[in-house]
Amino acid sequence: MELCRVAIAGFGAVGRSTAGLLLDRRARYRDVYGVEVRLVAVCASRAGLVDPAGLEPERFDDLEPGLSGPDVIEASGADVLIEAGPSDHRTGRPGLAYLERALSGGRDAIVISKGALARDGARLRALARRSAATIKVSGAAGAALPTVDLLDHNLLGSEVLGVEGVLNATTNYLLDAMMARGVGFEAALREAQAGGFAESDPRDDVEGWDTARKLVILAGFGLGAELSISDLEVRGIQSVTEEQIAGWRSDGLVPKLVGRLWRDEAGAFRGGVGVDAYPLTDPLARLPGKTKAIRVTTDGMGEIVAIGCGAEPLATASAALKDFEHILAARAGRLRPA
Ligand SMILES: NC(=O)c1ccc[n+]([C@@H]2O[C@H](COP(=O)([O-])OP(=O)(O)OC[C@H]3O[C@@H](n4cnc5c(N)ncnc54)[C@H](OP(=O)(O)O)[C@@H]3O)[C@@H](O)[C@H]2O)c1
Repeated sequence: MELCRVAIAGFGAVGRSTAGLLLDRRARYRDVYGVEVRLVAVCASRAGLVDPAGLEPERFDDLEPGLSGPDVIEASGADVLIEAGPSDHRTGRPGLAYLERALSGGRDAIVISKGALARDGARLRALARRSAATIKVSGAAGAALPTVDLLDHNLLGSEVLGVEGVLNATTNYLLDAMMARGVGFEAALREAQAGGFAESDPRDDVEGWDTARKLVILAGFGLGAELSISDLEVRGIQSVTEEQIAGWRSDGLVPKLVGRLWRDEAGAFRGGVGVDAYPLTDPLARLPGKTKAIRVTTDGMGEIVAIGCGAEPLATASAALKDFEHILAARAGRLRPA
């Protein structure tokens, strides 16, 4: 039976959930793809585990100091890297270093952090092409909500005319709270922080940067459109006022923070992030709490809407392992499990 060795870099909530799920699904990988899957390495920032014979969950709480970094992952002999570390959005590190090493060595990569992809996605795709490796990014582009896969698989052959995405759960939660109680941004944020629903430093979410990064990733990986963050006009929800909230309520509209892609006159994709208000009849208006959604407008298939709200970190782990099964299926020469 063919062997597939997996390494996971970044061993926090998502990395651990992914590791557990991967091991739970080993029988499925054997039955469906004829592949024995072995987890050969995991690492956090300063410690990790490596075992060519395969790791089991009982060892996950005894990471060995020093076993971390791209050298350790490379030496483990992994065929597939799952990258689940944090993101420095200015440098793309630490993910970028792991990804460059894996892809340049011809190893497939499944990426969950956004920093490296939003900053250097085009270069990473080129690196993968040169070494005939695969790079999959569902976890970084909406996770359980299908975005790149929707564009890549389900709409194959149709021309995409535009995309609208409610891609950030925190801002959706905050706008919901503002509409429900008629309060402005500052009051809603204080409530959300007190309840643990927003970060103590919420700027990345509320100013629209998280949505912008996801938009750039799905444009690049789903549509081959080379946009960077600096190409987008990005407006968040921080300046939404009580007066605007009152106006939307009396007009029967629901505000959402939306990332948009559209085609300019020359047919090239342009993008931006900002608040749009939708009538109640629109599916994008009906997204409670931390629900995310994407609407794609095509030439031949009309409008397609996907809506999702999985519980984290399992939903993101599941999205990463969906990517893994696509890799196994491609290796087995099949488009989907038999
Ligand atoms: N949580 C979610 O629901 C969710 C959803 C979608 C996407 N994501 C993305 O998934 C990634 C992980 O999120 P998380 O919630 O699992 O974060 P987390 O719990 O903070 O875990 C991050 C992990 O990365 C490790 N790490 C830090 N620097 C590293 C390095 N240089 N090399 C290897 N590992 C390193 C940390 O190690 P130490 O413990 O030693 O610091 C920790 O194990 C983030 O990029 C996040 O944006 C998360």
